[in-house]
Amino acid sequence: MVSEKARAKINLTLDILGARADGYHEVSMIMQAIDLADTVELEKSSGGISLEMDTTKIIGGENIPCDEKNLAWRAAIEFQKFCGENFGVKINIEKRIPMAAGLAGGSTDAAAVLRGMNRLYETNLTDAQLCKIGEKIGSDVPFCIIGGTCLAEGRGEILTQLTPIKKFDVVLAKPVGEISTPWAYKTYDDNPAKIHPPNAEIIKQFEHGNYDAAFKNFSNALENVAIKKIPAIAELKSKMLTAGAKVALMSGSGPTVFAVTDEHNVEKISQSVKDSGAQVFVTKFF
Ligand code: C5P
Repeated sequence: MVSEKARAKINLTLDILGARADGYHEVSMIMQAIDLADTVELEKSSGGISLEMDTTKIIGGENIPCDEKNLAWRAAIEFQKFCGENFGVKINIEKRIPMAAGLAGGSTDAAAVLRGMNRLYETNLTDAQLCKIGEKIGSDVPFCIIGGTCLAEGRGEILTQLTPIKKFDVVLAKPVGEISTPWAYKTYDDNPAKIHPPNAEIIKQFEHGNYDAAFKNFSNALENVAIKKIPAIAELKSKMLTAGAKVALMSGSGPTVFAVTDEHNVEKISQSVKDSGAQVFVTKFF
Protein backbone atom coordinates (compact mmCIF):
# COMPACT_ATOMS: atom_id res chain seq x y z
CA MET A 1 0.00 0.00 0.00
CA VAL A 2 1.20 3.54 -0.71
CA SER A 3 -0.17 6.76 0.75
CA GLU A 4 0.04 10.19 -0.91
CA LYS A 5 -0.83 13.62 0.46
CA ALA A 6 -2.92 15.39 -2.18
CA ARG A 7 -2.40 19.08 -1.46
CA ALA A 8 -4.76 21.86 -2.52
CA LYS A 9 -3.54 24.90 -4.48
CA ILE A 10 -4.32 28.58 -4.49
CA ASN A 11 -3.78 31.05 -7.35
CA LEU A 12 -1.71 33.94 -6.07
CA THR A 13 -2.46 35.50 -9.45
CA LEU A 14 -4.57 34.60 -12.50
CA ASP A 15 -4.13 36.47 -15.77
CA ILE A 16 -6.10 35.66 -18.93
CA LEU A 17 -4.23 36.49 -22.12
CA GLY A 18 -6.93 35.43 -24.59
CA ALA A 19 -9.20 32.68 -25.89
CA ARG A 20 -7.63 29.76 -27.80
CA ALA A 21 -8.86 27.81 -30.81
CA ASP A 22 -9.11 24.63 -28.69
CA GLY A 23 -11.78 26.15 -26.40
CA TYR A 24 -9.36 26.90 -23.56
CA HIS A 25 -7.86 30.25 -22.55
CA GLU A 26 -4.22 31.21 -22.58
CA VAL A 27 -3.37 31.98 -18.96
CA SER A 28 -0.45 33.11 -16.83
CA MET A 29 -0.85 32.22 -13.16
CA ILE A 30 1.34 32.05 -10.08
CA MET A 31 0.27 28.90 -8.26
CA GLN A 32 1.05 27.96 -4.67
CA ALA A 33 0.55 24.58 -2.98
CA ILE A 34 -0.95 24.72 0.51
CA ASP A 35 -0.92 22.27 3.38
CA LEU A 36 -4.68 21.52 3.29
CA ALA A 37 -4.75 18.03 1.77
CA ASP A 38 -6.75 14.90 1.02
CA THR A 39 -5.16 11.54 1.77
CA VAL A 40 -4.99 9.12 -1.16
CA GLU A 41 -4.15 5.46 -0.44
CA LEU A 42 -3.50 2.96 -3.20
CA GLU A 43 -3.29 -0.83 -3.15
CA LYS A 44 -2.54 -3.25 -5.97
CA SER A 45 -5.63 -5.12 -7.10
CA SER A 46 -6.35 -7.94 -9.53
CA GLY A 47 -9.87 -6.59 -10.06
CA GLY A 48 -9.24 -3.52 -12.24
CA ILE A 49 -9.84 -0.03 -10.83
CA SER A 50 -12.02 0.72 -7.79
CA LEU A 51 -12.59 3.89 -5.77
CA GLU A 52 -13.87 4.49 -2.25
CA MET A 53 -14.15 7.89 -0.63
CA ASP A 54 -14.65 9.11 2.89
CA THR A 55 -16.41 12.42 2.29
CA THR A 56 -17.79 12.89 5.81
CA LYS A 57 -15.41 15.81 6.50
CA ILE A 58 -16.65 17.97 3.59
CA ILE A 59 -19.98 19.56 2.74
CA GLY A 60 -21.83 18.05 -0.25
CA GLY A 61 -19.33 15.19 -0.53
CA GLU A 62 -22.13 12.70 -1.16
CA ASN A 63 -22.45 14.22 -4.65
CA ILE A 64 -18.90 13.31 -5.69
CA PRO A 65 -19.01 10.44 -8.21
CA CYS A 66 -17.04 7.30 -7.30
CA ASP A 67 -16.75 5.95 -10.85
CA GLU A 68 -14.87 6.79 -14.04
CA LYS A 69 -16.31 10.35 -13.91
CA ASN A 70 -14.03 10.99 -10.92
CA LEU A 71 -10.67 12.50 -11.94
CA ALA A 72 -8.83 10.04 -9.65
CA TRP A 73 -10.35 7.11 -11.54
CA ARG A 74 -9.52 8.78 -14.89
CA ALA A 75 -5.95 9.20 -13.70
CA ALA A 76 -5.68 5.44 -13.10
CA ILE A 77 -7.04 4.75 -16.62
CA GLU A 78 -4.59 7.23 -18.23
CA PHE A 79 -1.70 5.75 -16.20
CA GLN A 80 -2.57 2.26 -17.47
CA LYS A 81 -2.78 3.55 -21.07
CA PHE A 82 0.56 5.35 -20.86
CA CYS A 83 2.30 2.27 -19.47
CA GLY A 84 0.45 -0.15 -21.77
CA GLU A 85 -0.25 -2.33 -18.72
CA ASN A 86 -3.50 -3.36 -17.09
CA PHE A 87 -2.37 -2.19 -13.62
CA GLY A 88 -5.24 -2.85 -11.16
CA VAL A 89 -5.60 -0.43 -8.25
CA LYS A 90 -7.86 0.05 -5.26
CA ILE A 91 -8.06 3.78 -4.50
CA ASN A 92 -9.19 5.12 -1.15
CA ILE A 93 -9.54 8.88 -0.67
CA GLU A 94 -10.18 10.78 2.55
CA LYS A 95 -11.49 14.19 1.45
CA ARG A 96 -10.70 17.39 3.35
CA ILE A 97 -10.50 19.87 0.46
CA PRO A 98 -13.92 21.43 -0.28
CA MET A 99 -15.32 20.60 -3.72
CA ALA A 100 -15.92 23.06 -6.61
CA ALA A 101 -14.06 25.66 -4.61
CA GLY A 102 -11.18 26.86 -6.83
CA LEU A 103 -8.68 24.79 -4.81
CA ALA A 104 -8.08 21.96 -7.35
CA GLY A 105 -9.57 19.33 -5.01
CA GLY A 106 -10.34 16.86 -7.83
CA SER A 107 -7.16 17.59 -9.82
CA THR A 108 -4.91 17.02 -6.82
CA ASP A 109 -6.48 13.60 -6.13
CA ALA A 110 -5.75 12.69 -9.78
CA ALA A 111 -2.15 13.89 -9.39
CA ALA A 112 -1.76 11.81 -6.21
CA VAL A 113 -3.05 8.71 -8.05
CA LEU A 114 -0.41 9.23 -10.79
CA ARG A 115 2.42 9.72 -8.28
CA GLY A 116 1.16 6.82 -6.15
CA MET A 117 0.73 4.31 -9.02
CA ASN A 118 4.27 5.20 -10.17
CA ARG A 119 5.53 4.14 -6.71
CA LEU A 120 3.18 1.16 -6.31
CA TYR A 121 4.15 -0.42 -9.64
CA GLU A 122 7.78 0.85 -9.56
CA THR A 123 7.41 2.24 -13.10
CA ASN A 124 10.01 5.00 -12.55
CA LEU A 125 8.22 7.57 -14.71
CA THR A 126 9.75 11.05 -14.45
CA ASP A 127 7.77 14.06 -13.19
CA ALA A 128 7.71 15.29 -16.81
CA GLN A 129 6.07 12.03 -17.92
CA LEU A 130 3.56 12.14 -15.06
CA CYS A 131 2.73 15.75 -16.05
CA LYS A 132 2.16 14.65 -19.67
CA ILE A 133 -0.37 12.08 -18.43
CA GLY A 134 -1.82 14.67 -16.01
CA GLU A 135 -2.54 17.30 -18.66
CA LYS A 136 -4.93 14.86 -20.37
CA ILE A 137 -7.00 14.83 -17.17
CA GLY A 138 -7.11 18.57 -16.40
CA SER A 139 -5.14 21.79 -16.81
CA ASP A 140 -4.29 21.99 -13.07
CA VAL A 141 -3.13 18.36 -12.71
CA PRO A 142 0.52 18.99 -13.77
CA PHE A 143 0.89 21.71 -11.11
CA CYS A 144 -0.61 19.35 -8.51
CA ILE A 145 2.08 16.80 -9.44
CA ILE A 146 4.93 19.31 -9.00
CA GLY A 147 3.60 21.51 -6.15
CA GLY A 148 5.56 24.30 -4.47
CA THR A 149 5.39 27.70 -6.19
CA CYS A 150 5.14 27.76 -10.00
CA LEU A 151 4.35 30.05 -12.89
CA ALA A 152 1.74 28.20 -14.96
CA GLU A 153 1.26 29.20 -18.60
CA GLY A 154 -0.40 27.82 -21.75
CA ARG A 155 -3.73 26.49 -20.49
CA GLY A 156 -2.07 25.98 -17.11
CA GLU A 157 0.07 22.95 -17.96
CA ILE A 158 3.35 24.71 -18.89
CA LEU A 159 5.16 25.08 -15.58
CA THR A 160 8.20 27.01 -14.42
CA GLN A 161 9.21 26.21 -10.86
CA LEU A 162 9.91 29.37 -8.86
CA THR A 163 12.33 29.85 -5.99
CA PRO A 164 10.52 28.65 -2.85
CA ILE A 165 8.94 31.54 -0.94
CA LYS A 166 8.37 32.14 2.78
CA LYS A 167 5.79 29.74 4.26
CA PHE A 168 3.11 32.30 5.11
CA ASP A 169 -0.02 31.32 7.04
CA VAL A 170 -3.27 31.23 5.09
CA VAL A 171 -6.92 31.48 6.09
CA LEU A 172 -9.41 30.13 3.54
CA ALA A 173 -13.08 31.08 3.46
CA LYS A 174 -15.33 29.09 1.11
CA PRO A 175 -18.72 30.86 0.82
CA VAL A 176 -21.92 28.97 0.12
CA GLY A 177 -22.35 28.32 -3.62
CA GLU A 178 -20.34 26.82 -6.43
CA ILE A 179 -18.81 28.24 -9.59
CA SER A 180 -18.26 26.08 -12.64
CA THR A 181 -14.90 26.83 -14.28
CA PRO A 182 -16.27 26.68 -17.90
CA TRP A 183 -19.05 29.11 -16.86
CA ALA A 184 -16.52 31.53 -15.32
CA TYR A 185 -14.32 31.62 -18.44
CA LYS A 186 -17.32 31.94 -20.76
CA THR A 187 -18.81 34.80 -18.75
CA TYR A 188 -15.39 36.48 -18.72
CA ASP A 189 -15.34 36.35 -22.56
CA ASP A 190 -18.62 38.27 -22.72
CA ASN A 191 -17.06 41.06 -20.66
CA PRO A 192 -13.26 40.75 -20.39
CA ALA A 193 -11.77 42.45 -17.32
CA LYS A 194 -8.82 44.80 -17.58
CA ILE A 195 -7.12 42.98 -14.71
CA HIS A 196 -3.61 41.82 -15.59
CA PRO A 197 -1.39 40.89 -12.65
CA PRO A 198 2.27 41.80 -13.41
CA ASN A 199 3.59 38.26 -12.94
CA ALA A 200 7.17 38.94 -14.07
CA GLU A 201 7.44 41.80 -11.57
CA ILE A 202 5.93 39.69 -8.76
CA ILE A 203 8.43 36.90 -9.43
CA LYS A 204 11.30 39.42 -9.11
CA GLN A 205 9.79 40.76 -5.89
CA PHE A 206 9.62 37.20 -4.50
CA GLU A 207 13.28 36.64 -5.42
CA HIS A 208 14.24 39.76 -3.44
CA GLY A 209 12.04 38.73 -0.49
CA ASN A 210 10.03 41.90 -1.14
CA TYR A 211 6.77 40.19 -0.18
CA ASP A 212 4.67 43.20 0.83
CA ALA A 213 5.22 44.79 -2.60
CA ALA A 214 4.37 41.45 -4.29
CA PHE A 215 1.11 41.07 -2.33
CA LYS A 216 -0.04 44.51 -3.57
CA ASN A 217 0.29 43.19 -7.13
CA PHE A 218 -1.82 40.02 -6.67
CA SER A 219 -5.03 39.90 -8.70
CA ASN A 220 -7.35 37.42 -10.39
CA ALA A 221 -9.01 38.17 -13.75
CA LEU A 222 -11.98 35.91 -12.92
CA GLU A 223 -12.77 37.53 -9.59
CA ASN A 224 -15.29 40.12 -10.82
CA VAL A 225 -17.19 37.49 -12.82
CA ALA A 226 -17.47 35.33 -9.69
CA ILE A 227 -18.45 38.24 -7.42
CA LYS A 228 -21.45 38.98 -9.67
CA LYS A 229 -22.70 35.44 -9.00
CA ILE A 230 -21.60 35.20 -5.34
CA PRO A 231 -21.35 38.70 -3.80
CA ALA A 232 -20.18 37.11 -0.51
CA ILE A 233 -16.71 36.85 -2.12
CA ALA A 234 -16.30 40.64 -1.95
CA GLU A 235 -17.62 40.76 1.62
CA LEU A 236 -15.19 38.05 2.76
CA LYS A 237 -12.27 39.89 1.16
CA SER A 238 -13.16 43.12 2.85
CA LYS A 239 -13.58 41.47 6.29
CA MET A 240 -10.26 39.65 6.02
CA LEU A 241 -8.41 42.79 4.94
CA THR A 242 -9.92 44.78 7.80
CA ALA A 243 -8.79 42.03 10.20
CA GLY A 244 -5.20 42.53 9.03
CA ALA A 245 -4.68 40.18 6.06
CA LYS A 246 -1.67 41.12 3.92
CA VAL A 247 -3.76 40.25 0.87
CA ALA A 248 -7.19 38.64 0.38
CA LEU A 249 -8.10 37.29 -3.05
CA MET A 250 -10.27 34.69 -4.74
CA SER A 251 -8.51 31.49 -5.83
CA GLY A 252 -8.90 30.09 -9.37
CA SER A 253 -12.46 30.39 -10.66
CA GLY A 254 -13.65 30.61 -7.06
CA PRO A 255 -15.48 30.96 -4.89
CA THR A 256 -12.91 30.36 -2.11
CA VAL A 257 -11.16 33.49 -0.81
CA PHE A 258 -7.68 33.16 0.71
CA ALA A 259 -6.02 35.57 3.10
CA VAL A 260 -2.23 35.57 3.46
CA THR A 261 -1.01 36.56 6.90
CA ASP A 262 1.63 36.25 9.59
CA GLU A 263 0.83 33.71 12.31
CA HIS A 264 -0.17 36.32 14.92
CA ASN A 265 -3.16 37.46 12.81
CA VAL A 266 -4.57 34.02 11.93
CA GLU A 267 -7.10 33.93 14.77
CA LYS A 268 -8.37 37.47 14.16
CA ILE A 269 -8.86 36.82 10.44
CA SER A 270 -10.63 33.49 11.08
CA GLN A 271 -12.92 35.17 13.63
CA SER A 272 -13.74 37.96 11.16
CA VAL A 273 -15.44 35.52 8.75
CA LYS A 274 -16.74 32.87 11.16
CA ASP A 275 -20.32 34.22 11.25
CA SER A 276 -20.52 34.74 7.47
CA GLY A 277 -21.76 31.22 6.67
CA ALA A 278 -18.46 30.44 4.92
CA GLN A 279 -16.43 27.33 5.73
CA VAL A 280 -13.14 28.43 7.24
CA PHE A 281 -9.80 26.57 7.06
CA VAL A 282 -6.45 27.54 8.55
CA THR A 283 -3.47 26.32 6.55
CA LYS A 284 -0.14 27.55 5.15
CA PHE A 285 1.97 27.70 2.00
CA PHE A 286 3.70 24.39 1.38
O1 C5P B 1 -8.66 21.69 -17.89
P1 C5P B 1 -9.94 21.58 -17.17
O2 C5P B 1 -10.72 20.34 -17.56
O3 C5P B 1 -9.81 21.69 -15.70
O4 C5P B 1 -10.80 22.81 -17.63
C1 C5P B 1 -12.18 22.89 -17.39
C2 C5P B 1 -12.77 23.95 -18.28
O5 C5P B 1 -12.34 25.26 -17.87
C3 C5P B 1 -12.38 23.87 -19.74
O6 C5P B 1 -13.22 22.98 -20.44
C4 C5P B 1 -12.57 25.31 -20.19
O7 C5P B 1 -13.93 25.58 -20.41
C5 C5P B 1 -12.12 26.09 -18.98
N1 C5P B 1 -10.69 26.48 -19.04
C6 C5P B 1 -10.30 27.44 -19.94
N2 C5P B 1 -8.98 27.80 -20.00
C7 C5P B 1 -8.06 27.23 -19.19
C8 C5P B 1 -8.45 26.25 -18.25
C9 C5P B 1 -9.79 25.89 -18.21
O8 C5P B 1 -11.12 27.99 -20.69
N3 C5P B 1 -6.79 27.62 -19.26
